[in-house]
Amino acid sequence: MVFPSALSALWSAILLTVLLTTAVYSNVVYDDDPLQPVTADETVSVGGTVTLTCRVAESDNSSLQWSNTAQQTLYFGEKRALRDNRIQLLHSTSTELTITIADVQLSDEGEYKCAIFTMPVRTARATVTVLGVPGKPQISGLETPVQEGQKVTLTCTSTGSKPPAKLHWYRGDQELEGHLDVVESNPDDPTYNVSSELTLEVTSSDDNALITCAVDHPSLAPGDKRSEQTLRVLYSPNVQIHPGSNLPREGEKFSLRCTGTSNPEPTSYIWEKKDGELPILAKADGAVLHFPMLNKSDNGVYVCHADNGIGNNQGEYILLVQDPTVMAPSSGVDHAVIGGVVAVIVFILLCLLIVLGRYLIRHKGTYLTHEAKGSDDAPDADTAIINAEGGQSGSEDKKEYFI
Ligand SMILES: *[C@@H]1O[C@H](CO)[C@@H](O)[C@H](O)[C@H]1NC(C)=O
Ligand SMILES: *[C@@H]1O[C@H](CO)[C@@H](O)[C@H](O)[C@H]1NC(C)=O
Ligand SMILES: *[C@@H]1O[C@H](CO)[C@@H](O)[C@H](O)[C@H]1NC(C)=O
Repeated sequence: MVFPSALSALWSAILLTVLLTTAVYSNVVYDDDPLQPVTADETVSVGGTVTLTCRVAESDNSSLQWSNTAQQTLYFGEKRALRDNRIQLLHSTSTELTITIADVQLSDEGEYKCAIFTMPVRTARATVTVLGVPGKPQISGLETPVQEGQKVTLTCTSTGSKPPAKLHWYRGDQELEGHLDVVESNPDDPTYNVSSELTLEVTSSDDNALITCAVDHPSLAPGDKRSEQTLRVLYSPNVQIHPGSNLPREGEKFSLRCTGTSNPEPTSYIWEKKDGELPILAKADGAVLHFPMLNKSDNGVYVCHADNGIGNNQGEYILLVQDPTVMAPSSGVDHAVIGGVVAVIVFILLCLLIVLGRYLIRHKGTYLTHEAKGSDDAPDADTAIINAEGGQSGSEDKKEYFI
């Protein structure tokens, strides 16, 4: 057929045109002089390896040469010119000279030059930027616990970054705004020491909070370098009184326990009864007030004062002694009764299942075994098996109830 081949010829023509256009166009964009070397600027972290590539579009077989910031020749074609084992040849052809510099130092920063010794000599420059890798941040100001309600100023510092690193503060996952970011520099050190301050007014809920200072720098992946410290807050007791039972009944033993959530733990507890003396029988033993035998005359409001040296607070409990005959609060009874009823129902259901199961098997299921076929007629086991395998010797199949 003529039509498809005409079409494919047309496509080829279009494709060729596009290719030619692209080639011409890229030539125009990149260099009009095919002998002009082309390089690229590079950025590398201290200790890293940088690769310097120099290419020409065409070569007249002149050698390419790389030289360093001090104009010293590093490589001339594949010939090493400077004795520095950090610098190695990666690739050398008539159109390309690629070298690597390992374990880069800050002093390696600067302008490198690629030259091709044509007439005239053509050169290209590549700027190598060396990043100073910041040190692990250090948090100071949290050496001692802070008292609730006070302000604390934390400082985070990181040394040796270039360009200056940024520091970020976090309390748990939440970022906090630092202030007074300081960048230190000094004339004979190209790197910077940075610091940031964070002022917090702490509350008891800040106790054990994790404070993080993280470094943000182009030489690091996010989260690479961070320091964490736990904030310790000293706060006065938050007092609660827990009764030994929910049903104080006359004549029974009873106790009240005073808990003071605080940092540090409370060191002293004082028990009082509002509007009166503690009952004679009641014995205070630190956080616990014991009643060996409750009496209605014990009724009243009991107060526990807990002190941890930071401050003291109090909690209250209203004691209302019940008659000895009063039933325990309903919820406990209900649970026991429901539990018992459920247990009985489950037991009955199980019994029914077992009985039903036995009934069904007895009346419907019959089970035929090899032994049943032969053993009853055989004088011994071997004969029984032979009988069973032979099959026909037994006059009829035997039925055996499985249960
Ligand atoms: C470059 O050298 C090769 C072989 O060494 C030679 O064939 C070629 O003609 C030379 N090219 C130029 C432009 O001198
Ligand atoms: C940064 O800190 C280090 C160690 O504390 C110090 O030796 C260095 O001189 C400081 N650099 C600058 C630029 O301040
Ligand atoms: C309670 O105390 C009163 C007097 O203080 C006493 O008469 C009474 O017997 C006590 N009740 C019990 C159950 O101990």
